[in-house]
Amino acid sequence: MSDGRPAERSVAVWDLPLRLWHWALAACVAAAWFTPTVYDSLHRLVGYAVIGLLAFRLVWGFRGSRYSRFRTIGARLRAAPGYLWNLRRGITGRYLGLNPAGTLMLVALLLSLTVSAVTGALSVTVTFFGVWWIEDTHAVASDAVMVLVVLHIVGVVLMGTLQRENLTRAMITGRKRIRRH
Ligand code: HEM
Ligand code: HEM
Repeated sequence: MSDGRPAERSVAVWDLPLRLWHWALAACVAAAWFTPTVYDSLHRLVGYAVIGLLAFRLVWGFRGSRYSRFRTIGARLRAAPGYLWNLRRGITGRYLGLNPAGTLMLVALLLSLTVSAVTGALSVTVTFFGVWWIEDTHAVASDAVMVLVVLHIVGVVLMGTLQRENLTRAMITGRKRIRRH
């Protein structure tokens, strides 16, 4: 918890591959959103890139540095309801990696992105071309991704304000402040 005194040092949190992954994913998802029908081949290209990025994140969940790993996801997800409840009163706790709400967002984004990208890829195969439920699932999952992305950005800004730390900069530099106790 903050004692209101200035920060002394910073500590490495997000490793370089995770940061590159994050911003590449954000760029691909943004491109996928604006390209259907208008720029079909670009849409497919960035969609396949998302599949590659999701595969990388799976590997990095086991091979990455401490805050990239999936090891504590279960515990953080179980803490999420209580965490969100306490947020009403502005209580954020202090987490260097993802907090329980951020972990919930990570899982929701990874799942919706997987459904979106896989149904997208299926919809251009001979077997599933023109199959209505594949197309509908692709549209719904992609809409869900965009809603989650908006909530994600609101969450990042809100948490950053409550904790007086620029979280976006931390996702660029990889470092967060260590505070004096
Ligand atoms: C399509 C757009 C985006 C997607 C799909 C996305 C996805 C994600 C995911 C999955 C994580 C979890 C990282 C992990 O794997 O452990 C994350 C973290 C993060 N993202 Fe994004 N992101 C997007 C856009 C943005 C934007 C525009 C910003 C800045 C305004 C941002 C700032 C952050 C920050 C700061 C974190 C770390 C949260 C923390 O410090 O607790 N993201 N993002
Ligand atoms: C995360 C990745 C993706 C996102 C966010 C995304 C998003 C979208 C969205 C919003 C639509 C419009 C849906 C509608 O309202 O009918 C769409 C359509 C479509 N997507 Fe994707 N998509 C992704 C990946 C893919 C992939 C990997 C492929 C194929 C390789 C693909 C192929 C298509 C096709 C064929 C359409 C039908 C519209 C058209 O002719 O372009 N998508 N996608």
